[in-house]
Amino acid sequence: MGKENKTYYVTTPIYYPSDRLHIGHAYTTVAADSITRYKKMKGFDTMFLTGSDEHGQKIERSAKDSDKEPKKYVDEIVETFKELWSSLGIEYDYFIRTTEERHEKVVQEIFQKLYDKGDIYKGHYEGWYCTPDETFWTERQIGEDKVCPDCGRPVEWVEEESYFFKMSKYADRLLKHIKENPEFIQPESRKNEMISFIEQGLDDLSVSRTTFDWGVQVPFDDDHVIYVWIDALSNYITAIGYETDENNFNKYWPADLHIVGKDILRFHTIIWPIILMALDLPLPKQVFGHGWLLSDSGKMSKSRGNVVDPMELIEDFGVDPIRYYLLREVPFGTDGTYSTEALIQRINSDLANDLGNLLNRTVSMVEQYFDGVIPEPAEYEDVDQDLKNKGLKTVQEIEKYMDDLKYTNALEELWNFVRRTNKYIDQTQPWILGREEGKEERLGTVLYNLLESLRMIAVMLKPFMVETPYEIGRQIGDQIQIKEADWSNLSWGELKTNIEVQKAKPIFPRIDVEEYYDKKEDKNQKEEKEKTMTNENSNNKEDLVNFNTFQKLDLRVAEIKEAERIEDSNKLIKLQVELKDESRQLVAGIAKHYETDELIGKEIVIVANLEPAEIFGVKSNGMILAASNEDELTLITPEKAIASGSKVK
Ligand code: ME8
Ligand code: MG
Repeated sequence: MGKENKTYYVTTPIYYPSDRLHIGHAYTTVAADSITRYKKMKGFDTMFLTGSDEHGQKIERSAKDSDKEPKKYVDEIVETFKELWSSLGIEYDYFIRTTEERHEKVVQEIFQKLYDKGDIYKGHYEGWYCTPDETFWTERQIGEDKVCPDCGRPVEWVEEESYFFKMSKYADRLLKHIKENPEFIQPESRKNEMISFIEQGLDDLSVSRTTFDWGVQVPFDDDHVIYVWIDALSNYITAIGYETDENNFNKYWPADLHIVGKDILRFHTIIWPIILMALDLPLPKQVFGHGWLLSDSGKMSKSRGNVVDPMELIEDFGVDPIRYYLLREVPFGTDGTYSTEALIQRINSDLANDLGNLLNRTVSMVEQYFDGVIPEPAEYEDVDQDLKNKGLKTVQEIEKYMDDLKYTNALEELWNFVRRTNKYIDQTQPWILGREEGKEERLGTVLYNLLESLRMIAVMLKPFMVETPYEIGRQIGDQIQIKEADWSNLSWGELKTNIEVQKAKPIFPRIDVEEYYDKKEDKNQKEEKEKTMTNENSNNKEDLVNFNTFQKLDLRVAEIKEAERIEDSNKLIKLQVELKDESRQLVAGIAKHYETDELIGKEIVIVANLEPAEIFGVKSNGMILAASNEDELTLITPEKAIASGSKVK
């Protein structure tokens, strides 16, 4: 079995709809989108699959925490995935959800096939288990104390019935395949890790669970649901019609490329190929394991609060700068660090300065010297030939790099050409040609070459950016041609002449880092405030206090005897107050509103039975009452003098 060569099938992992998607997920998906766009321009019939991995205990539990049915819970999150992909210009052909009926049915058929073949058998899963965390740990992980390395609570030895998949049976065949097909696992360094892992011997894999329900039922055993991998990995074949649409399946399988993060490379290069071997299906041509996109403070994760929200970045900077940054900044395969400063730096130098200026200068000169009408080129000089050669060479370089998923190098080459074209302006000095008699033909040739370079650049940008190529096309009077252009339109001289350019605002305005952060801070503060205000409002309605609760507060009139500012604090004052025969010390945050002198002798109201606390190293035994809003603060005092210690109720 083998597919026609002119198809190209690429996948991303299917993401869990429990965490919010962050810039790391966007990184994978933009990369997959970019290679798909490129292959399409090269004339391939492409198939680009992404989706969501919706079963399992973690999702079941998150849904419960949100008081929702799991299906309803995932439905809502999946909508946000689709919104993000649309904002990022991701053009997938199919979005698979593992809860869709066709997928679930075929997963059961796969499980049944493997069982009938004897590759799945029933056994016992046993190990050290942390019940509160619902996680198995190895002997080494729990150490001598036999406690959960995550939460420190004692683990217990449990045995659970489970179905197992005979991985070991296929280990030799897999090793042979990996060694004979050097492109199967990429990058190279990751391949060697996988080889040594397999050489250590493969354990059979537990592929079912009895401890939760949110999953595909094992078709012949009601007590079990299929656990993770047979369900999740099979998406790559169920989505294109395995067992349901033979024509489509044969057209696209085997996949050309699975793009995955390095954390799940092992599953894709060991478990997945073995499932396919057991099903007698050909293996994907390549699995590419890319690195982590870290934030300054480490790997992004929601619980660590260092998640970079791609939606927010798109709102702030636009879709193409984000796509450009993701593909340009970090070589695909290695780990990289996301930083907003680096993003702004790229926007200002590569996009605004190099590309934006080139377009702006060129179109302005066509307006100035040719009334905006694209001139015909005449005979070429060496400098023209050199520019043309560089453009054509760039096409080849990009081809070479894209075949190896070297996005960073491809874009670097493209920007070398952008800068080469800017240099061409300096070399040919069109502003001098414009002043001299009889140089009109020469000037026309120079401007034609600049516009043609921009057309080439726009076409070469199409795999990477989703708006800019067309905006360049529009400005050089030629949008339709860019829309329809594919890779074969990258020969020199296809630009149409005698049509008008359309000057517009610069495509990438420069961004001032300081200004950006100031604005951002203002916006965050405003959002914070809105949040607290809604919280306060809802408190008013919902958290009613009954009389008994109120009575628990011991509110008393007290007289201030001494007041003293607390060193190192611009808010706090230490007070000595008298309550009938008792004196007390307490700390109050009123220094911005009262001088210490004016406080002495005042009668105030305090909460007398508040738990004692230490504030700035000073003991505080009670709390004063004050009314305040954003700017003002006033102490609550009795309307007429009354003996200190009197109860307030
Ligand atoms: O693992 N940098 O789903 P998932 C780069 N459902 N990429 C990152 C990243 C980061 N900081 N964080 C996550 C799953 N990723 C399974 C997959 S496939 C049959 C099942 C990317 O939602 C990376 O590609 O945890 C990683 O493999 C994927 O998101 C995991 O997403
Ligand atoms: Mg993960």
